[in-house]
Amino acid sequence: MKIVYSLIFTLCFSVSLFAQDQVPTDFLSKEFHKERRDVLRSKMPANSVAVVFANPLRNRANDVDYVFHQDPNFYYLTGYREPNGVLVLFSDEQTDANGNTYTEILYVQEKNATKEMWDGKRLGKEEAIKTLGVSKAKNAIEFIISSINFSKFSQVFIDGKFKDDYRNTSNKAEIFDLVESFKLATNYNPKDYPSKAKVYLYNAIAKATIEEQSNIVSTIKKYQAYYPELLEDAIIQNYLQANDKTKIEDAQQQVSLVLGVKQLVDVSFLPEQLAAMREIKTAEELKLLTKAIRISAIGQIEVMKAMQPHMSEAELQGIHEFVYKKYGVAYEGYPSIVGAGNNGCILHYIENDRTKVGNDLVLMDLGAEYRAYTADVTRTIPANGKFTKEQKLIYDLVFKAQEAGIKATVVGAPFRAPNNITKEIINKGLFELGIIDAVDARHNYYPHGSSHYLGLDVHDPGTRGNLQANSVITVEPGIYIPDGSPCDEKWWGIAVRIEDDILITENGPVNLSAEAPRTSEAIEEMMAQPSVLNSFVLPSLDD
Ligand code: GLY
Ligand code: MN
Ligand code: MN
Repeated sequence: MKIVYSLIFTLCFSVSLFAQDQVPTDFLSKEFHKERRDVLRSKMPANSVAVVFANPLRNRANDVDYVFHQDPNFYYLTGYREPNGVLVLFSDEQTDANGNTYTEILYVQEKNATKEMWDGKRLGKEEAIKTLGVSKAKNAIEFIISSINFSKFSQVFIDGKFKDDYRNTSNKAEIFDLVESFKLATNYNPKDYPSKAKVYLYNAIAKATIEEQSNIVSTIKKYQAYYPELLEDAIIQNYLQANDKTKIEDAQQQVSLVLGVKQLVDVSFLPEQLAAMREIKTAEELKLLTKAIRISAIGQIEVMKAMQPHMSEAELQGIHEFVYKKYGVAYEGYPSIVGAGNNGCILHYIENDRTKVGNDLVLMDLGAEYRAYTADVTRTIPANGKFTKEQKLIYDLVFKAQEAGIKATVVGAPFRAPNNITKEIINKGLFELGIIDAVDARHNYYPHGSSHYLGLDVHDPGTRGNLQANSVITVEPGIYIPDGSPCDEKWWGIAVRIEDDILITENGPVNLSAEAPRTSEAIEEMMAQPSVLNSFVLPSLDD
């Protein structure tokens, strides 16, 4: 009997040890998140408080929710991977009723055996202190019940917009309720906060000279067409009706007064500070981001080997994502784009429903999200393994532009440097190929910018100031010639984007996605390689 018990014990013990080994442990460390909170706190003015909300869990249909994804700023500061949390950071030490001091509180989902049986484990407040390293944690409901006295602070910072557009009633302390209680506690009135468009116009009005007034008026009218709330804005109406110098100056004065009013709740400080912090990656972040990028590059390689004209866009997407899962990736960083021929001209094409890629070029823009960091890699390859003459001419032009763009990605260069050089090379090349009539002709064949920051978000925040070491940006020029374009029809349906993820260093750019072939020759060579996937044949279900 004893033997049986000890056998059961040993079995359970080893199973539980085994189970512990089976979950990923290479997320950002608690020390990373703590240090990030300390940096943010050091930037906050005295007697201020920052409140950052987690993402809500959104409903998909009936009793099925969307897969949860954490808000990146919240994750950056906490490492908490559940919905319905709130981080409160104080610039100065606070003292509780027992005389204990603290500078932060993380509000988390309450432990609940039934909920955990259905939806998975919750960390809870004790474990949050242990594994996330926050000094104080409470149940989220306490944010509502024993609300913080926000009025004693000279400023309250929130991270941009509230995510209370949706109410999920399955919990008693959902983001909607948490935001509602925050609004009550701070007397928050959205009417006090002019929209971005309004602030932009108010600023433009306040700064314009008398000579510039007619330009401002036409800008206002353009904005009014897009943002109807501007039509009802009394200050803007007053300005538009001002018909002499004194009245214009009076209207300008009125705008300046509104801009000068300081609100208790500030919506822009946090996004600005966090963008500047997130632009520069630590070594720990770079390790995860590099892994996400390498996984995505390997996905591209496997598809280059496996691709055949009879395959569908969705099947090719599946091969990329299968490679991601083999590496333990939880999700894609953004919906995968696999577009053959003309579909490649749709910049964010995600239907991926063409049933045969045929002999077209296939544009594949995908990124694995590894431990919250996402890659963003695009390769464009000929489905049958060989570029046609026209496809190759366009491909090689995009490649030439991208090479120059990557070369321009150096410390101290303006953020737009890679964009400018890629545009210049592509315009010249399109003219030489006879696709446009002049180097400076207006066209829509390269309608997007070349670069964005990359990190927790695919379009990561950053300052867009001069490029800095340890930030990662994409360089992704493209040429898209949809069917029916005003050029020789031999070019129609050709779409090429080449996108690599570039680490900026003091020693120059490092291409983190270079593993996936980039030149037209190297792609053809890789496509000639055999793939084990070609022998993975499933039974036909067609009658
Ligand atoms: N995958 C989106 C982008 O390239 O920006
Ligand atoms: Mn991109
Ligand atoms: Mn992309």
